Amino acid sequence: MKILAFESSCDETAASVVEDGRHVLSNIVSSQIEIHRIYGGVVPEIASRKHTEVIAQITKEALRTAGCEFSDIDAIAVTYAPGLIGALLVGVNFAKGLALSLGVPLIPVHHLRSHIAANYIAHPELEPPFLCLVASGGHSHIVEVKSYTSFKVLGRTRDDAAGEAFDKAARSLGFPYPGGKFMDEAAHKGNAEAIHFPRPKVEGSPYDFSFSGLKTAVINCVHNAQQKGIEINKNDVAASFQQAVVDMLSERLMMAADKFGYKKIAVAGGVAANSGLRERLEAECKKRGCSLYMPPLSLCGDNGAMVGSQGYYEFLAGNTAGPELNACANMEIDTLE
Ligand code: KG4
Ligand code: ZN
Repeated sequence: MKILAFESSCDETAASVVEDGRHVLSNIVSSQIEIHRIYGGVVPEIASRKHTEVIAQITKEALRTAGCEFSDIDAIAVTYAPGLIGALLVGVNFAKGLALSLGVPLIPVHHLRSHIAANYIAHPELEPPFLCLVASGGHSHIVEVKSYTSFKVLGRTRDDAAGEAFDKAARSLGFPYPGGKFMDEAAHKGNAEAIHFPRPKVEGSPYDFSFSGLKTAVINCVHNAQQKGIEINKNDVAASFQQAVVDMLSERLMMAADKFGYKKIAVAGGVAANSGLRERLEAECKKRGCSLYMPPLSLCGDNGAMVGSQGYYEFLAGNTAGPELNACANMEIDTLE
């Protein structure tokens, strides 16, 4: 079954053709990062406009690269929640129109479910149940993936997402948006023991996260140094910050794995590209005899292939929609089964 899949929840317009959920025939991503970088973050209205400008062209490219015609497509999948509402609507309406005109099913896909599904593409042997850390610019969840379409959130962030904390800390150090990648690079050259940043816990909720205190600590550290005219070692700040985030994410994920008896652990979302996190999880999983599944860097960020993969399993579960489908800015991962 060939699915043409779309992703437009934030600042990437993406289209992909995926066969039977696991075989990527094409994966075209058009990033708007350079435009939003000027403003230091994503400007929702600009994001929607840019999606509108490129979505038809990248659809053609996705089909051409896959060696397909529209007539070869068996279903259309699209990210419909959560995300920037105007941005989501571009993908949803385009997908609706295509599904209607081609006479094929329309499959709505939850963005975080699709991030998890990036692992199905990279690891053909991976099947639920497993435990997954989903860490992106907007979310930080520890999720039990009970089946392809059944999820239970064990922990989540109470304030900033991990990626958001990376981006804001990066901004205070003068790195371009989105700063996660630049923090990762700087951290390689720095001393992670140079500064002790806080690693807050949420009382009574052992698997929840809170990153805003850590983010503020970094911003204060940078501002204090600036006010005193002390030159700050950016690499040391980045390394110390990254170590704190990695400590928090990996500690809670592993605690959940131990408590709920998971031997298969996965990680997903933009922050899954972080080299410090990948190394730490590799070491922790090895220690416990757990298998670790991580997407390649190319599938950590937003893309259409992961939507095509999850879309296949949503289709098998009967989760299709009609022309009444609407986009939704906020939606829990476990809303549909
Ligand atoms: O999943 P994603 O592409 O978009 C959302 O759904 O939010 O995640 C983007 C986030 C950004 O905050 C970005 O800075 C972060 O992922 N990110 C990283 C790295 N690469 C991307 N964070 C830390 N280290 C990285 N190497
Ligand atoms: Zn994402």
